[in-house]
Amino acid sequence: MTDLARFIQGLPKAELHLHIEGSLEPELMFDLARRNRISLPFASVEAVRAAYAFSNLQDFLDIYYQGAGVLMTEQDFQDLAMAYFRRVAADGCRHVELFFDPQTHTDRGLPFRIAIDGLLAGMAEAERTLGVSSSLILCFLRHLDEDAAFTTLREAEPYLDRILGVGLDSSEVGHPPSKFARVFGAAGEMGLKRVAHAGEEGPPAYVREALDLLHVDRIDHGNRALEDPALVARLVAEGMTLTVCPLSNLKLCVVDDLKAHPLKRMLDLGLKATINSDDPAYFGGYLGRNWTETAQALSLSRAELVTLAKNSFTGSFLPPGTVSDHLAGIDAYLSSNS
Ligand code: HPA
Ligand code: ZN
Repeated sequence: MTDLARFIQGLPKAELHLHIEGSLEPELMFDLARRNRISLPFASVEAVRAAYAFSNLQDFLDIYYQGAGVLMTEQDFQDLAMAYFRRVAADGCRHVELFFDPQTHTDRGLPFRIAIDGLLAGMAEAERTLGVSSSLILCFLRHLDEDAAFTTLREAEPYLDRILGVGLDSSEVGHPPSKFARVFGAAGEMGLKRVAHAGEEGPPAYVREALDLLHVDRIDHGNRALEDPALVARLVAEGMTLTVCPLSNLKLCVVDDLKAHPLKRMLDLGLKATINSDDPAYFGGYLGRNWTETAQALSLSRAELVTLAKNSFTGSFLPPGTVSDHLAGIDAYLSSNS
């Protein structure tokens, strides 16, 4: 392990943009397919990996929704979550605010409670056995309609005390945030936090809509905000956290080369950026690898890495006292490493 990788591994950090269904590794996909007697359109783990060559978001989503079809029982979701938490705990991750896509499962006939009960069991196990805390963000699929989102929000009502917030994901272009203004309004009235994918492939106007119409507390991705200087100034002034996903951006051709990734520019502009993995089983790396590859490609300084780690906690929805404890943990790590 290089000095840089060792420094990053030990640095306490949080992950704020992780789709749990996107952590389904091909090996587990095959195990679950066998366990649930589901046939896969792939002959082997290698064939699955070979199919992970994407030229845009939709290419990826088609295969991602297909992969999620092996998840059938609470145990499957618990196993999925625990596999992710084991992996990310090894990367020095202390806290995760994870997305799940209930409609991906209810649309194929699974009751709402199967996914959520299984994930909550995995999250409790991770906290107990790995010391990684987590909370759950329910994402609406934006290629589906507003009614479907409202149905999902109603199904979530019995779980309100165990859901942190709502998010918006899936195919961005053609499905602007405005389509979900009312359901996000209802979620806000229910006391839920609000986040939305915006500016991954969609224009800066979608980022503005997420702020003005969805009243989001964080922007997921946000890359294309950089095309609009007034929008950047606003995001800086509001201290808005961006959950940036470098390896995802590379795999989905949002950037051509990690060396051209805007993360460093975001920091230079004063934007509150964080590093995240998005869908690590599909995009070639978990949290640690996103950090090390980006740090290398952009020659990030130790000071910039510390800013990113601090942003991951101050940009989280943890209570202020817990955020302070994590920040103190970062400072303690730095003094023991200097
Ligand atoms: N973008 C939009 N929707 C998604 C993604 C993403 O990167 N990953 C899983 N659903
Ligand atoms: Zn995402």
